[in-house]
Amino acid sequence: MTLLTVQDLRVEFTTPEGNLVAVNDLTFSLAAGDTLGIVGESGSGKSQTAYAIMGLLANNSHTQGSIRFNDQQLLGLSEKALNKIRAEHIAMIFQDPMTSLNPYMKIGQQLMEVLLLHKGMSKADAFAESVQMLNAVQIPEARQRMNMYAHELSGGMRQRVMIAMALLCRPQLLIADEPTTALDVTVQAQIMNLLKELKQEFNTAIILITHDLGVVAGSCEQVLVMYAGRTMEAGSVNDMFYRPSHPYSQGLLSAIPRLDGHSKYLTTIPGNPPNLLHLPDGCPFQQRCPQVQDICRTTAPPLTAFGADRYRACHWQGDSLEQE
Ligand SMILES: Nc1ncnc2c1ncn2[C@@H]1O[C@H](COP(=O)(O)OP(=O)(O)OP(=O)(O)O)[C@@H](O)[C@H]1O
Ligand SMILES: [Mg+2]
Repeated sequence: MTLLTVQDLRVEFTTPEGNLVAVNDLTFSLAAGDTLGIVGESGSGKSQTAYAIMGLLANNSHTQGSIRFNDQQLLGLSEKALNKIRAEHIAMIFQDPMTSLNPYMKIGQQLMEVLLLHKGMSKADAFAESVQMLNAVQIPEARQRMNMYAHELSGGMRQRVMIAMALLCRPQLLIADEPTTALDVTVQAQIMNLLKELKQEFNTAIILITHDLGVVAGSCEQVLVMYAGRTMEAGSVNDMFYRPSHPYSQGLLSAIPRLDGHSKYLTTIPGNPPNLLHLPDGCPFQQRCPQVQDICRTTAPPLTAFGADRYRACHWQGDSLEQE
């Protein structure tokens, strides 16, 4: 069953320097219980896509297109209706947990408040449920932690508290925006494993936003590669990893260290993402693309289907890069 359908989503910001299109004709859908990775370099529009779904875009934004969640149109909903959906059905984990945890309130109070306000639970039930959720996210000595403040916890523990808070209302959709970037590698792996387990347990659909294709490989079924607000390539994680088709995805993949030692050295994609205020005509990736042709400088390639359930926006007719 389709849970979320994003169709031709456009997010535009009015700035003193002119209009900036942060998300450009983005289309994707997500089935209940599925996991989609959204990958791209800094500034590619990943977070603004998430904020558009959450109804949290800045005031200087304009949106077009459609975001349907369970057959309800989210774009243009009143703040009251959005609050209800955010409290009951869609939750988000932000990159920096300190921006969403209140430094002056004990962890337990913050967790319980969600249940007291939105589920109408009694205090005793809310306490028990909060402790249970802290246990579910593998926080040791959960009862004692209920009495602590956010600054008394390590970064990894704070991120777990955020996840617990996001899952308390049993959302159908969880958006995790770079949930592990601030953490060291071992803690990163633990948090990703935890998300996977929780997905199984609660059947939550997840949108995982990251600049790291490696994180997506271990935890998502579908992946969408964004560049300058557009989809470059989309499909199953397996296809993307074994046969990346867009020169940008190929570049991102060759920048991942490989444990099997197949690649002798790491390449990065030369150059930087374009300035969104001064996008070139044609394909936004043209200046960095090893396969660039004349047509790329005049005409933006449309997103087209190829193979089984795969999409890419590219004029280049070359083959997918076979990875061993
Ligand atoms: N309120 C705003 N006004 C103008 N431009 C904005 C505003 N908010 C975001 N942008 C611009 O929108 C573009 C996309 O931003 P977004 O936050 O989605 O990037 P991102 O892919 O999440 O990057 P990162 O990996 O760095 O988090 C950026 O160029 C950003 O500067
Ligand atoms: Mg971001």
